[in-house]
Amino acid sequence: MGLFRSLLLFGSENPWLNQKVPKLGFVKKAARRFIPGENLSDAIQAAKNFRNYGIFTSITHLGENILNLEEAKKVTDHYVEALNQIELEGLNVEISLKLTQLGLNLSVEQAQNNFKTIAQKAAHIPTFVWIDIEGNEFADRTIEFYKQQRKDFSNIGICLQSYLYRTKDDFSDLLFIPTAIRLVKGAYKEPEQIAYKSKKNVDQNYLFLAIRLLKEIEQKNIRAAFATHDPDLIKQIQNEAKKLKISRDKLEFQMLYGIKTEDQYRLANEGYKMLILISYGKAWYSWYMRRLAERPANIWFVLKNLF
Ligand code: FDA
Repeated sequence: MGLFRSLLLFGSENPWLNQKVPKLGFVKKAARRFIPGENLSDAIQAAKNFRNYGIFTSITHLGENILNLEEAKKVTDHYVEALNQIELEGLNVEISLKLTQLGLNLSVEQAQNNFKTIAQKAAHIPTFVWIDIEGNEFADRTIEFYKQQRKDFSNIGICLQSYLYRTKDDFSDLLFIPTAIRLVKGAYKEPEQIAYKSKKNVDQNYLFLAIRLLKEIEQKNIRAAFATHDPDLIKQIQNEAKKLKISRDKLEFQMLYGIKTEDQYRLANEGYKMLILISYGKAWYSWYMRRLAERPANIWFVLKNLF
């Protein structure tokens, strides 16, 4: 991992910077490239715009590691309000959330109650809820949580990271049950004892896991989503899918709002299922720092806004 990337990931976890940086107007302006706005209405409007192009969307209210359970309740209420809005407007929009937003870092039981409230409302619409995967300290708890909840809700899925050595075993575990997996490379700062450090190894493992998922798509009742902006990996996944005779509409790619936008429209045009994850909210600092770390060249964009 490059020094710059390490510094940005270190900064993403620093409470002092989290307090100060979001107040800087030029950083806020630069962050707008990846976020349509801070309000639910901004995310819903962006989702409507994508719908006109046959692009699916999922929305996520930014925030993680909340400090008390009242905050977790507020987040839950917010997601229920978002789902009400989605239902009212007849939209086909999914939800993505982090379990530490619902209190997993404070009380598993409360997080379960909060999650059930959201998943039940989503099932009623019906729409889908994706559980993000956070730093490794939460991996066991998140996967166990998902396995338990999946017994009650078929409209939920989990994200897994190809940079972790453990993910191949998590796959073996999760592919036994009807499941939904969103495969990503991984965005946190993890030590080499548990995670691949070089892009080459992370990419190789991504392809290995992606092929495993592709082989399951036709045989089992699973939803597989390949969440990456990496054009080489996308090409290789498309080729493997072709060999396995998986039709384009069954091949799902997911990307983040504001990244590789042309590719998003192109893939949707070519007949692939394309879903954009739209983030919104005031707590964008840590999330934005991880986006900068993925591509340190993005820093130039921040500096451009300064001048
Ligand atoms: P890679 O980083 O190799 O980038 C490939 C190319 O994409 C780059 O060369 C560049 O052109 C472009 N690109 C990538 N990131 C960019 C950026 N920030 N700015 C500009 N260009 C960029 N992670 C996690 O740990 N837990 C999670 O729950 C999720 N959830 C999630 C959902 C969805 C829908 C997506 C798309 C991603 C996530 N992630 C995530 C983030 C993921 O782990 C990863 O950090 C990013 O997707 C970047 O990795 P790529 O696969 O795009 O490859």
